[in-house]
Amino acid sequence: MSSKIFVDACLGKETPYTPVWMMRQAGRYLPEYMAVRAEAGDFLNLCHNPEKACEVTLQPVDIVGVDAAILFSDILVIPDEMGMDLSFVKGEGPKFSDPIETEADIDRLIGGEEAADKLTYVYDTIKLIREQLADDKALIGFTGAPWTLATYMIEGQGTKTYNICKKMMYANPTLLHKILAKVTEVVKYYMEKQIEAGIDVVQIFDSWAAAIEPSMYDEFSWKYMVEIADYLKSKYPHIPIIMFPKGVPAFLDQVYGNFDVFGVDWGTPMALAKEKLGDRYVLQGNMEPCRLYSKEATTSCVEGIQEIMGGKRHIFNLGHGILPDVPVEHAKHFVSECQRVSGK
Ligand code: CP3
Repeated sequence: MSSKIFVDACLGKETPYTPVWMMRQAGRYLPEYMAVRAEAGDFLNLCHNPEKACEVTLQPVDIVGVDAAILFSDILVIPDEMGMDLSFVKGEGPKFSDPIETEADIDRLIGGEEAADKLTYVYDTIKLIREQLADDKALIGFTGAPWTLATYMIEGQGTKTYNICKKMMYANPTLLHKILAKVTEVVKYYMEKQIEAGIDVVQIFDSWAAAIEPSMYDEFSWKYMVEIADYLKSKYPHIPIIMFPKGVPAFLDQVYGNFDVFGVDWGTPMALAKEKLGDRYVLQGNMEPCRLYSKEATTSCVEGIQEIMGGKRHIFNLGHGILPDVPVEHAKHFVSECQRVSGK
């Protein structure tokens, strides 16, 4: 047994209660986060500053009482260090000034270990967190899935239609695969270096999984996530891996791969996920994050999830990230309700 209940739960071991954390738990709903971000100047400066990134990583552990910290960073620092110029425009979200259109654009990007070696501020942040995080709390490192990263690299920003990357998917799939393969190589090294720096668990966010039709999801996303998991498991079999493909209930029957935890999004019924995957993977999730606006809605959902999962092979979480206007007190209520129903 590890001293960390969260790591044990990821590995499917019995734990005294069901651990809980929240996606996007280090963020704008916390006034303490806003204060540190203001000191740093802006969001990217905060990501680049190990002392401050460490400080905001630890905030939700101290304030909200979750069982795991998640590294404070962003998935888009990867393409940034591959040579794409990332900025966050106020009110508009992330932007890349020069999106990928051609094979030459891909060839120009820095790849492999060389790109991963440029993310030193991330590894430095992890080392600082490791020194300051309590022994019984786990540290989650993360990456975006190659597909989710590629959507930003091709569209240059967030998108509602994904028309530019989907045009590439159907009209020039070879080019898209070339991007995905290059990103996958960088991510393998990146996650390996996060592990070497001290993370306990890996989560792969495929936030835009639902943009791909189910029959093509494996080819353009899942198989690359599995390739990353296989690589990490061959070197670090003791490090749990969480896969979070958002919005893929139609893909549950096809899920395969050497990983430990399947992150269930809020649109997928927990009972369905349990029926399809519960014997092979630990399940994480899956409260609809907007339930956090109401304590009653939160309590009834937590009780419902507990009834389905019965405190076995389960980690409490939201079914996607917490929103900035959720009262901190409601986030605390979610955590304490998860602890109450699971007997802490
Ligand atoms: O979960 C955590 O607490 C750890 C930190 C974390 C952030 N981004 C901090 C962040 C993580 C794990 C991410 C991942 C991320 N980033 C994803 C996948 C996760 C998901 O939610 O599905 C994606 C798609 C991104 C890209 C990204 N970063 C977008 C689209 C935005 C703008 C969103 C918005 O609401 O403005 C960001 C910025 C970002 N990343 C913020 C935070 C706290 C807000 C920045 C701020 O302080 O203004």
